[in-house]
Amino acid sequence: MTDRYAVIGNPIGHSKSPFIHQGFARATGQDMDYTALLAPVDGFAAAVDAFRAAGGRGLNVTVPFKLDACAYATVRSPAAELAGAANAMRFDGERVEVENFDGVGLVRDVVHNLGLPMRGRRVLLLGAGGATRGVLLPFLAQGVAEVMIVNRDLDKAQAVARLGATQGPVRACAYAALAGQSFDLVFNGTSASLAGELPPVPASVFAPGALAYEMVYGKGLTPFLRLAADAGVQHLADGVGMLAEQAAEAFAWWRGVRPDTKAVIDALTVPLR
Ligand code: ATR
Repeated sequence: MTDRYAVIGNPIGHSKSPFIHQGFARATGQDMDYTALLAPVDGFAAAVDAFRAAGGRGLNVTVPFKLDACAYATVRSPAAELAGAANAMRFDGERVEVENFDGVGLVRDVVHNLGLPMRGRRVLLLGAGGATRGVLLPFLAQGVAEVMIVNRDLDKAQAVARLGATQGPVRACAYAALAGQSFDLVFNGTSASLAGELPPVPASVFAPGALAYEMVYGKGLTPFLRLAADAGVQHLADGVGMLAEQAAEAFAWWRGVRPDTKAVIDALTVPLR
């Protein structure tokens, strides 16, 4: 019997997940079906109940349901626990496991696709929302020298830093405190780019040879990436690789086979200009 999977969200029409997972299924010869599921904003649990009752095996989860997915689960991975949010679910009878693959996907994109090892590097993470919480543990697991979390609301950054403190060197600061500091890997995990805004980060944060990574994808040269380019940064990336790699992690978790991501990344890449 063909196994059923879907991405659930609201809205859901824009999601690239069906394109990505259908491609993975073809490339790996998996007998599975992957669709998009629109659920009412207040109807996540009922929609998942119905999907499971119809034999559904797993879901990807997108806005606004990542927190609901975590609450619905019977088993949460450490990454999902720390983020308080999940982007993948796996069903087996009464057991509902959730995962957050954003962080491992991003690490894989940086280390494997971009060829930039993270061990011993100084990392700056802009923002203290879901995107930052989702990637903190996998960053620390790479043995980075330090993760600095910067946010307009400093209390929020400090709270996230405390969550990761037992796992590695993580600190929080305000944007004004970045003067005179530089980092090897700088990630924009704020939602500023979605509004065409620039976080108040000084151009001096980019160390020689630094990477500037925009975690949003498909927006071309965002204000953050433009700041980096104008500062002479050579390594510029957006979140297309992160999107493809987190999808590949979920696919492997469900099916036991890890698809190659190159074709997906090539198909979805929007030039950075
Ligand atoms: P998400 O879960 O998508 O990350 P969120 O929890 O609302 O959404 O977090 C959005 C993040 O982007 C926050 O860290 C926010 O900063 P504040 O907590 O200080 O509000 C950050 N953000 C949004 N717009 C920004 C901007 N123009 N400049 C800097 N940071 C911005």
